[in-house]
Amino acid sequence: MQQPAHGSIVQARRLRKVYRGANEVEALRGIDLEVERGEMVAIVGPSGSGKTTLLNCLSGLDAFDGGQVVVDGKDLSTMSDRTRTAYRRDHMGFVFQAFNLLPVLSAVENVEIPLLLQNVNSRDSRRRALEMLETLGLAHRATSTRRSRRSSSSCSCA
Ligand SMILES: Nc1ncnc2c1ncn2[C@@H]1O[C@H](COP(=O)(O)OP(=O)(O)OP(=O)(O)O)[C@@H](O)[C@H]1O
Ligand SMILES: [Mg+2]
Repeated sequence: MQQPAHGSIVQARRLRKVYRGANEVEALRGIDLEVERGEMVAIVGPSGSGKTTLLNCLSGLDAFDGGQVVVDGKDLSTMSDRTRTAYRRDHMGFVFQAFNLLPVLSAVENVEIPLLLQNVNSRDSRRRALEMLETLGLAHRATSTRRSRRSSSSCSCA
């Protein structure tokens, strides 16, 4: 099994991603990257330089055309789509620019979904989700839905 270099949590080697369509776009051209465990990294660059593409490939959200991504010793390039999805569910967290909350669910239901998908029983999932909202000072919003928040404020999010 592939092992990461000492202390690294994410490694990319010669990562390549091509979008194919009317025009072929080589979005990643042989990216090498290593992130140490506990390290905080910001990826900056002009619009269109490939930041989102890189993050999608590093996190297994998107497949790539060449090279290798190893996360915590696991080689994403050799995983099936199904295995990669399960690995993402169990080991990764994302904060998207668009929050991607499910609008028909309440705040606490949105938070507990990943636990339910991991077959944590509903009682424990709910308890842990409420604890998390409490930690973040959001307990008072636990039963809010996007719809109820909208109708109670003048927010008009795109
Ligand atoms: N689904 C797609 N199909 C075709 N080309 C794409 C697709 N997604 C991104 N691209 C192209 O790949 C390149 C990298 O795009 P990407 O979205 O990764 O850049 P970015 O750095 O995240 O940009 P931004 O700062 O605007 O978010 C760009 O040339 C973009 O037009
Ligand atoms: Mg982007």
